[in-house]
Amino acid sequence: MSAITVTPCNGPGAEIGNVELAAELSDDDFAVLQQAFADHGLLFFRDQDISPEKHIEFAERWGEINVNRFFTPVEGYPQIALVSKEPEDTTNIGGGWHTDHSYDEIPALGSILVARELPESGGDTMFADMAAAYEALPDDTKEKLDGLEAVHSAKHIFGHQSAYKEDGDLNDRFGNEDAADTLDDVTHPVVITHPLSGKKTLYVNGAFTVGIKGWTPKESAELLMPLYQHAIQDEFVTRFQWKPGSIAFWDNRATWHYALNDYQGQKRTMHRITVEGCVIH
Ligand code: SIN
Repeated sequence: MSAITVTPCNGPGAEIGNVELAAELSDDDFAVLQQAFADHGLLFFRDQDISPEKHIEFAERWGEINVNRFFTPVEGYPQIALVSKEPEDTTNIGGGWHTDHSYDEIPALGSILVARELPESGGDTMFADMAAAYEALPDDTKEKLDGLEAVHSAKHIFGHQSAYKEDGDLNDRFGNEDAADTLDDVTHPVVITHPLSGKKTLYVNGAFTVGIKGWTPKESAELLMPLYQHAIQDEFVTRFQWKPGSIAFWDNRATWHYALNDYQGQKRTMHRITVEGCVIH
């Protein structure tokens, strides 16, 4: 029997209580977390004291770690991507709605983000539920999306032509442009059946989706822009306020996220581990 508590948020996600992620998790405890992850696609933990080693250990319980090709790693821990903003930086990482790794043939299962250093205020992350967003679409839109495939790319974000490159202050936080430029674009269904929840889920995002396969840029934009607006309505969104010891674990196939950049002049340091996923349909 596990003592772990799962309290659904007022919006997507659930807050997990009575658990110490740095401690040995029993099989029963882990089964509760697995079920909560499948049900909610977004788990929040508070008051955790977790070393980088334990962060890695916890992530490995979920699957193989996907070592990010583009982010600067945390020193001494190549498995952990550094998601940081210095007081002199004006732009942040993840400051727009997106899901991680949709540009991969096999998109990552999820990301486990640990707060290491937080601004005095601000720096919240918003999450949106893509199954709820899909479910609420009108039937004729659902029919239109049925069978469509979208093209996803990393080039315009992490490659040599990236707009980020003009943002001098993001340059030291990303690298490996050659790898991005040589990575083949991939296609995924616009609507997937989520591998854990079985729910139909929107799987396009404003950062990495570059169009609908076989459609012109104009036709693609006419379909995608209203979908993106629809998906970020309040009813599908949770705003998470980070505190020391907070951890968020999201499913990249079920949610989008958006790191707010409202703490200019202050430092924010997060450690992110991304776990490999499976083929999606
Ligand atoms: C990310 O986009 O992966 C980072 C999110 C955050 O820093 O809150």
